[in-house]
Amino acid sequence: MSRKLFTVGPVHVDQEVLEAMTAPMITHRSKDYKNLHGSVVEKIRKALGTDMDVFMVGGSASVFLEGAIRNGASRRTLGLTNGSFGDRFIEIAELNGRKVDKVRADWGKAVTPAHVEGRVSGDVEAVHWVSNESSTGVLSDSVAVAEAVRAQNPDALALVDAVTSAFASDLDLKRLEPDALVFGTQKALALPPGIAVMIASERLLAKAKTVQDRGFYTDLLKIKKQSDDNYALTTPPVSLMYALDFQLDRALREGMPARYRRHREMEGMVAAWAESRLEGVFPEAGRRSATISVLNRGALDFERFNAAIKARGYEISSGYGDVKEKTFRIGHMGDVTPKALGELLEAMDGVLEEMQ
Ligand SMILES: Cc1ncc(COP(=O)(O)O)c(C=O)c1O
Repeated sequence: MSRKLFTVGPVHVDQEVLEAMTAPMITHRSKDYKNLHGSVVEKIRKALGTDMDVFMVGGSASVFLEGAIRNGASRRTLGLTNGSFGDRFIEIAELNGRKVDKVRADWGKAVTPAHVEGRVSGDVEAVHWVSNESSTGVLSDSVAVAEAVRAQNPDALALVDAVTSAFASDLDLKRLEPDALVFGTQKALALPPGIAVMIASERLLAKAKTVQDRGFYTDLLKIKKQSDDNYALTTPPVSLMYALDFQLDRALREGMPARYRRHREMEGMVAAWAESRLEGVFPEAGRRSATISVLNRGALDFERFNAAIKARGYEISSGYGDVKEKTFRIGHMGDVTPKALGELLEAMDGVLEEMQ
């Protein structure tokens, strides 16, 4: 049964976006593909306000989180975490043999410059963290964190997981100056899953030249060589590239400031609902995610609530990680509108009434 998705990814994909994927197949070494690839790169740059390299590979975002580590550090990193996905980034670095110094912020709180104070010594090659922690619904101020990192060690790279914030919150790339900013198609871009994107700095590519085990699929130097020619390293998901090109046009037509405002408005709607109907939202005030609201369950029988919501044709997401049992999540990213979200909140009101 098809439901209206208010999930945390994959998210709802509009019919016309799905239809954009049905254009005739082309081969990935053709002129047509080269034009498509170049068009997508330029539109991503325009939308995010950057002229940095834009790399794309077939895969989920994690392939480029791994790529950021494998190209950005040989030995030692500093990993900041305030939830499951910060932990995941650390795990990726450790499984790739890097020694990770860890700083843990409380769940529900942001990572801040205070968390890196005195921690970025000369032998820390890279610092990694999550911009929008999807388990807790916290949007950290990555500009402030990156500036604090560079103030202590100008050579340390900033590797940022922006999987659930890119294209929904203004990350201010000119000030953030990320060395790697990673996201995927199935979140705020509202496409089917399958393309990982990395915005990469020259510093990262220079560092990559000194790192030995970059692998093949995640070797940014190989990817860069092809990307400079508007080609992918290996066979790309061509159909998804059509849809990405189409979706970027829509985002640019909406206008990025308007897009960012739409997401923030939806965060406010859910927070107000949670405040008046349940026990509010989980993350600290002032740092709430614009894409994923994490609501406190309080005494709510979530299993019953969720089953009734499903029966009304909607899908929301359960809690995640350490706060799985005491929260649930509502995703409002991509093409979700305040109007559609309002209908979900009304349906949720109906269910609460029924449950009394
Ligand atoms: C913040 C964050 N980082 C990383 C991931 C992993 O992304 P993917 O499944 O695209 O590899 C997710 C997925 O939900 C996420 O929310």
